[in-house]
Amino acid sequence: MSDLMDAITGLAKRRGIVFPSSEIYGGLRSSWDYGPLGVEIKNNIKRSWWRALVQGRDDIVGLDAAIIMSPRVWEASGHVDSFADPLVECHDCHRRYREDHLPDWAPGVAAATLRCPECGGRLTDPKRFNLMFKTHMGPVEEDAAAVYLRPETAQGVFADYRTVQQSSRMKIPFGIAQIGKSFRNEITPGNFIFRTREFEQMEMEYFVEPGTDEKWFEYWVEERLRWYLDLGIREEKLRLRPHEPDELAHYAKAATDVEYEFPFGWSELEGIANRTDFDLRRHQEFSGEDLTYFDQEGDRRYLPFVVEPSGGVDRAMLAFLVDAYRVEEAPKASGGTERRTVLGLHRDIAPMKVAVLPLSRNEALVPEARRVFDLVKARWMSDYDDAGSIGRRYRRQDEVGTPFCVTVDFESLEDHAVTVRERDTMTQERVPIAQLARRLEERLN
Ligand code: GAP
Repeated sequence: MSDLMDAITGLAKRRGIVFPSSEIYGGLRSSWDYGPLGVEIKNNIKRSWWRALVQGRDDIVGLDAAIIMSPRVWEASGHVDSFADPLVECHDCHRRYREDHLPDWAPGVAAATLRCPECGGRLTDPKRFNLMFKTHMGPVEEDAAAVYLRPETAQGVFADYRTVQQSSRMKIPFGIAQIGKSFRNEITPGNFIFRTREFEQMEMEYFVEPGTDEKWFEYWVEERLRWYLDLGIREEKLRLRPHEPDELAHYAKAATDVEYEFPFGWSELEGIANRTDFDLRRHQEFSGEDLTYFDQEGDRRYLPFVVEPSGGVDRAMLAFLVDAYRVEEAPKASGGTERRTVLGLHRDIAPMKVAVLPLSRNEALVPEARRVFDLVKARWMSDYDDAGSIGRRYRRQDEVGTPFCVTVDFESLEDHAVTVRERDTMTQERVPIAQLARRLEERLN
């Protein structure tokens, strides 16, 4: 792992952002838990996505479909037959790899020329390995009761498409958005929370009239890129990568990835796909139900095409952390400089928006500091920290990205004002407590 990834995983563990799951039992490779600060960041990402796609628009509605669906869904969607990666195994050490993740792999390279990265041994021919987790529903472990954990949230949208469209009386073009867990038995999970076997997706299926799909595809590629930029990701770290025809998923006519330059290289953050009418057509065929849309103005029925932006919450979080992390020299109150670690997270993503810091634990100060804390925590996720020197407390807040620290000192008891310090510029301003909420609101909302 690179130094930057080491620094981020170290910080994430130390500050309770993300850490290995079931660690008291030695952990479970590729499973991660999100601690008190991590769950805030994750919720903020999901909230920002929901605000941009559902709350802020009148053409997209939300859905929360079940994770375990009828197994027929996955036959219809093509996942039972086609959702597989090429698995190779070393003849000597028996380690297993996803062929296209091997360091020497490139399109067209023959499997026979590749070698085991661990021991240099020869590798088997690739086998298609289906990524879906299979389990049983109910008390009988027989094939009739076999079900899958969903490998994408999208199929819940397709299966519910007609019910949602009719109950919410949406007219094409319109979208159905969903955020939820997905599961893939990845051959090579890794790079911290980048590729895991359990992860969360933010997906939106946008139903359009056939023939307008290419226009909407371009529209959603631009919209989704803009979302990351608006949340502060550096422009030079983002790029769009259209898929080559031979790498398209089985359902897609075109796809473009939004990629981020992670410390381990340019990698997919989110994919935007033109899924045509593939999914609705297959579900119509397999279920025998009519899934066509009646266009009243045109007086005709058709199966809509679908444009799908599909992003990962965990991957987005990794990109936000990587992009925001910096170590810099900062002036010290007592003179000279010191190194400080800063997570320059966008205010909407930062886990805590405000930290209230009483200058000391002096009993005269505490009630006033608690009053200020009550005032800010009624509106924003806020922290109260009274441990250690004020300089150390600023640094603790900087490294988890808290945009504002509010210091309550002895003067506050006289002038009913507090000092507001801004994370990035470190500028400090005296603000009357009566105006604090309004002043913070101007900069946080
Ligand atoms: N419905 C389309 C679909 O699922 P995908 O490109 O396979 O497309 C979409 O996945 C997004 O889901 C990816 O861009 C990524 O952000 C996230 N994702 C996919 N597999 C993941 C994994 N194993 N771990 C973490 N995130 C993953």
